Amino acid sequence: MNVVAIVPAAGSGVRMQHACKKPYIELEGQTILGHTLSALNQFESISSIIIAVSPGDEPQCRQQVLSALNVRPEISIITGGERRQDSVANALAVLPAACDVVLIHDGARPFVTAEIIEGTVSAAFKYGAATAAVPVKDTIMRLGSADLTGPEPLERDQLYAIQTPQAFHQDVIVAAHVHARSTSAQATDDASLVRHMGLPVAIVSGSYENIKITTAGDLVYAAAILKARRAATKR
Ligand code: CTP
Ligand code: MG
Repeated sequence: MNVVAIVPAAGSGVRMQHACKKPYIELEGQTILGHTLSALNQFESISSIIIAVSPGDEPQCRQQVLSALNVRPEISIITGGERRQDSVANALAVLPAACDVVLIHDGARPFVTAEIIEGTVSAAFKYGAATAAVPVKDTIMRLGSADLTGPEPLERDQLYAIQTPQAFHQDVIVAAHVHARSTSAQATDDASLVRHMGLPVAIVSGSYENIKITTAGDLVYAAAILKARRAATKR
């Protein structure tokens, strides 16, 4: 199977409030983006990886991330867009002609495992679209309107936190982005764009460790995950 991976890494990390842009923050001597690429490297069917970075960050990505990395897939760097979905759309525009599955994985999720990637790719190959997800742990309420009824509780058993990786047949994800453009649909992930087009998306098990590093507290958790993994490999 030929899998092409797209890694959106062109965000500005507003919620992180860090001096350094999120993909280039170092965790134990390697950038977050470098950890993510190393994780993708474990999955052998990925033939190439397209990384979307902020305009002007291409040299930093090459020097700080790629030069220190020894990964098997062919890597190309492209310029991302204003929103995550624009960054993904820019990458879709340069997809190699034929691939069985397009895998999309946030640059800010360094702890994905080969098992989660495998599960997502297999489900996408079978069903057309798939996303990793985990059941939510908190009770979630939808903020009410101004009618003073207050927030509306949602049934936790039916709620999942959607992660990446997400994977798709090439024609499905390309069509979802064309549809989003023509309907001005916006989403913070690609599975939502596929759902917006009315197609189903399979849910596969992600993991609670597969966090999207988003706020400063996530860096503390990330350091703990790395430490635990190192200790486990020494055993
Ligand atoms: N992303 C992107 N292009 C954008 C916005 C986001 O490629 N215009 C990427 C981010 O770099 C990240 C992933 O999409 O790897 C998930 O986005 P998020 O966690 O929201 O990162 P940021 O947008 O950088 O953070 P924030 O929303 O706090 O500014
Ligand atoms: Mg964002």
